[in-house]
Amino acid sequence: MVVEMHPYIGLVEAIKQRRAARSFSSDRIPEAILQEILELGIQAPSGFNLQPWRFIVVREQENKDKLQACAFNQRQVGEAPVVLICCSDRCATKMENIISVIHLGEDVVTMTDSYANYLRSSIPEFFVNHPSFDTIEAWTNRHAMLAVGYMMIVAKSFGIDSCPMEGFVSTQVKEAFQIPDEVDICCLLALGYAKEPFKGYGGRFPIEKVCFNESYSKPLKLS
Ligand SMILES: Cc1cc2nc3c(=O)[nH]c(=O)nc-3n(C[C@H](O)[C@H](O)[C@H](O)COP(=O)(O)O)c2cc1C
Repeated sequence: MVVEMHPYIGLVEAIKQRRAARSFSSDRIPEAILQEILELGIQAPSGFNLQPWRFIVVREQENKDKLQACAFNQRQVGEAPVVLICCSDRCATKMENIISVIHLGEDVVTMTDSYANYLRSSIPEFFVNHPSFDTIEAWTNRHAMLAVGYMMIVAKSFGIDSCPMEGFVSTQVKEAFQIPDEVDICCLLALGYAKEPFKGYGGRFPIEKVCFNESYSKPLKLS
């Protein structure tokens, strides 16, 4: 099979056309496209470039059935050819990972000594004080979900539908898929080709309701 590696739905249309699919055909996702979804997904930004996201790619029917049983029996888990268990690793905040990020920057020749020193000293302090979040899990999860968002749009651009899911029992999934204590699951992401029943567009609130002008108390008006 020849795989067309150029996305054939542009960015704007991919965003507009993406819907959470509740049922999938058994058609497989070409491996090269799956790779592209993962590769482009992990181009998402992360605080200090620490990249705490982790993904378990589940394709074996036996494992999808096991996952479906941990996910309130949601049919899309068993039907989709690929389900990602989207996780985030709290250890990404530790010095070992900080050093790896510094090495990454050195490999692509963008890391300077002064920035490396800044990362070594500032990041541990940031995670002791953590002024912008309550728990480390809140911090790691926000990053994993960004990557998931990228993946859904990249997938749609290759004609592949998705369904993000929070309907699962985390303790059961962790045990069934050998996920370590320090790793949290932020969602499941089913990927494949949607078939009926396909829930339609549920609408979105207007930007006047969800966006504000300069402060939370002021409405935004765009001409
Ligand atoms: C974090 C998150 C968790 C979700 N969990 C589920 C789920 O467990 N089962 C499900 O069928 N849909 C789930 N959804 C899909 C939403 O219901 C869906 O995105 C929403 O209704 C808007 O529809 P649309 O994505 O088709 O525009 C979830 C979506 C998100 C972003």
